[in-house]
Amino acid sequence: MAFSRSCSLLFLGIFCTCGFVDPYRVGVGIADVTGPVAEVTFMGYAKLEQKGMGLHLRQYSRAFVIEDNGNRMLFVSVDVGMIGPAMRKEVLERLNRKFGTLYNEQNFILSGTHTHSAPGGFLMHLLFDLPSLGFVKQTFTALVSGITQSILRAHNSMVEARIFLNSGELLNVNINRSPAAYLFNPEEERNEYKYDVDKEMTQLKFLSAYNNEPLGVINWFAVHPTSMNNTNRLVSSDNVGYASILFEEYANGGLPGKGPFVASFASSNLGDVSPNIKGPHCLNSGLPCNDVSSTCDGEAKICIASGPGRDMFESTRLIATRLFEKAKELWGNGNEQEVLGPLRVGHQFVDMPKQTAHYIARNGSSIKVRGCLPAMGYSFAAGTTDGPGEFDFKQATLTGNRMWNTLRDLIAAPTSDEKECHYPKPILLNTGKISFPYEWQPKIVSVQVALLGDVAIGAVPGEFTTMSGRRLRKAIAAAYQQNGRSVRKVIIAGLSNVYSDYITTPEEYQLQRYEGASTIYGPHTLTIYLKVYRELTNSLLLDRKIDPGPNPPDFSNKLISLVPPVIFDCSGFTNRFGECIQQPHKRVKRGEVVKAIFISGNPRNNLMHGKTFLTVEKFNKENWDVVATDSNWETKFIWMKSSKLSPNSEAIIEWETGSKTELGTYRIRHIGFYRYIFGGIHPYEGLTEAFEVVDN
Ligand SMILES: *[C@@H]1O[C@H](CO)[C@@H](O)[C@H](O)[C@H]1NC(C)=O
Ligand SMILES: *[C@@H]1O[C@H](CO)[C@@H](O)[C@H](O)[C@H]1NC(C)=O
Repeated sequence: MAFSRSCSLLFLGIFCTCGFVDPYRVGVGIADVTGPVAEVTFMGYAKLEQKGMGLHLRQYSRAFVIEDNGNRMLFVSVDVGMIGPAMRKEVLERLNRKFGTLYNEQNFILSGTHTHSAPGGFLMHLLFDLPSLGFVKQTFTALVSGITQSILRAHNSMVEARIFLNSGELLNVNINRSPAAYLFNPEEERNEYKYDVDKEMTQLKFLSAYNNEPLGVINWFAVHPTSMNNTNRLVSSDNVGYASILFEEYANGGLPGKGPFVASFASSNLGDVSPNIKGPHCLNSGLPCNDVSSTCDGEAKICIASGPGRDMFESTRLIATRLFEKAKELWGNGNEQEVLGPLRVGHQFVDMPKQTAHYIARNGSSIKVRGCLPAMGYSFAAGTTDGPGEFDFKQATLTGNRMWNTLRDLIAAPTSDEKECHYPKPILLNTGKISFPYEWQPKIVSVQVALLGDVAIGAVPGEFTTMSGRRLRKAIAAAYQQNGRSVRKVIIAGLSNVYSDYITTPEEYQLQRYEGASTIYGPHTLTIYLKVYRELTNSLLLDRKIDPGPNPPDFSNKLISLVPPVIFDCSGFTNRFGECIQQPHKRVKRGEVVKAIFISGNPRNNLMHGKTFLTVEKFNKENWDVVATDSNWETKFIWMKSSKLSPNSEAIIEWETGSKTELGTYRIRHIGFYRYIFGGIHPYEGLTEAFEVVDN
C-alpha cells in the first residue's frame, strides 16, 4: 500500500484516483470519564488530605481508530493519572463482547495524560491505591465505561482519511526538575541536545479524504500536568486537558466535550519535566533551593516550584494556552508531511525482574546486567519540587537510616542480593517482596510499538525521563536502520497500559533523585527497555510473530476498599434540595466573579457523565440558552458538607465573567441527585434569580 499510494502521488498528482489505492480509515470519539468529584483523594501527589471538593474541568477520554488494509490500531488518551492493566483489560472485555477480537491486547494503546488532579483508587496495585484508602470502584467504573464509550464513538465515525505529521519547537512551557541528575549523563551525549528537556511538539493531524474536513489531532509534548499543585481540591485535567478543550472549542465552537472534532494533548517522556517554569524556590526566603537535594536549610517540604502565573489557575491557563497556540500553528503552517505506508502494531508483556541485557560502559566494555524485583528508594518519599512528600525525606539520599530500615524490614526485608541489584538505591519499600494483601507494584509490564509507515510510536509503561526517552527513540530508529530503512519520527506515548513508575538512565539513577529512587527495576531498567523495544520494532518490520509474553496476575477479587459510601443526604428542616440560599448580586460588572450557593446532595450520587452539575444560562428574547457548563474554564463547582459528619451539604457555584462575556440577563442552575434516608437516589434542580451583566 505504501507503494501504491506514493505512486499515485508521484505520477498522477491526484490523491485517490488510482483504483487500487486505499487510504487509511480514521474514526475519532470523545466521552466523559469524570470520577467522583468529592471525598476521594486525587492520584498523583500521594497526599492523603488532597480529597476532591468539586470540579473545575471534566475528565475526558479521546479515542482514535486508524485502519489500513484491515489492520487496525486504537489509540486512546485519557485525562487520568496513569493506566492500570485491569482498566485496559476490562475495556477490552467490553469491546470483545461487541466486536470479537477486532480490538485486542496487540492493537490497543491506552495512554494517561498524567493529570494529578483527578480522583484515584482505580489502579489495583496496592502502593498506588494507598493514598485513596484502597480501590475505589466508582472511579474505576467511570473510567472504564467512559473510555469504552469514546471508542464506540470513534469506531462508529470511521471515514476514509489522510494523516499528516508535523512538529515544531515550543519554548517557555517546561523545565527539568532534576537538572543535577541530567548532568550525570555523558557530556558527549548531552552535547547532542540544546536543552535538558525536549522542546519539540509532534502532531498527527487527521483529515477526511473526501473533502479535507478536519477530524481530529493528537499532539505529543513532554510536560507534567502539575500546574495545579497539591493544594488543589477541584477535579481538573490540568494544563494538557485545558489545551484539548481550547483546541476543541476552536474547531467545534459550543460547549466542552461534545465533539465532533477531537483534540488530544497526550503524554510523552515527561519523567523529569515540570511545567512550573519559574523553578523551585524556598517558601520562607524566596531563594532558589539546593540543587542536588531540593531542600532549604535541609528541609524539602518548603522547596516548591511554580509559575508562570500568579497562582496555579493562571499557571494552568498560561501553559495550556501556549500548548494550544503551538498546536494550532502546527495544524495550519503548511509544513506537514503526509504519513504513508502500512500500519503494524505489536504488544508484549515482559516480566522485568527476569530480564537481562548488555550495557555498554563508557570504556566500551559490555557488561551483563539484570532487572530487579520492584523496590522504591528513600528519595521517593521526598516527592518532587512539584509536590514535596509528607515526611522528612530528601532527594539524592544514598544511605538509609535505622528507624526506617527497621520499619521496612518488618514489612519485607530485602536480601543482600536485592540490595546489590538496586545499588546505589537505598531501599525504603521492598515492594516486589510484599504480596499482602496482593501485589504492590507490577512485575509484568506492557511493551508496545505501532508503526505507521515511517512514523513509529513507542508506548511506554511509565514515566521516561528526557534522556531515557531520547535513547529509546534512538533504539527504535536503530531497528529501522538494521532493516535498511529510515524512520521520520519516533514518538513516545507515555504512561501507557500499565504503570511502573519512572525510568531514568543508569547514569541519572546514580544520583537517586526522586525519579531515580522511583525507577523500580533497578539501575538498568532502561537498558532492558532499549533491548525489548528494539527487538519488538524489528519483529514488526519483519512481520514476525510476536510472543505475547506472560499474563499479568489478576487480583480483582481481593481488592480492599475503605472509602465509605454516601449514607444519605439531608437538606435541613426548612430547606429543600436545589434551593438557592445565597443569590448572586443583581448587577455584575464584566470581570467580576458571580457566586451562588445551593442546598445540595452528595455529587458522588451521580457523576453526571455527558451532563453537568451546573449551567450558566443567558436570556435571549424568549429562551434561556446554556452558555457554560461545569466543564467550562470560567465555572467552578465547589461542594462541601456543612460539617465533617453532617449529611447536609452545600454547592458553591462560581462563574468568572470577562471581557468576552456578552452583556445581558443571566441565571445559574444547579443540578444534582440526593440519597434519601429511606432509600433511593432522586434528582433535584434549583435556579438563582435572574441577574444582569453590565459594562464596567
Ligand atoms: C499552590 O499554589 C498556590 C497558589 O495557587 C500557592 O499559594 C501555594 O503555596 C502552592 N502550594 C504548593 C504546595 O505548591
Ligand atoms: C569498564 O567499566 C566497567 C564499568 O564501569 C568496569 O566494570 C570495567 O572493569 C571496565 N573495564 C576496563 C577494561 O577498564
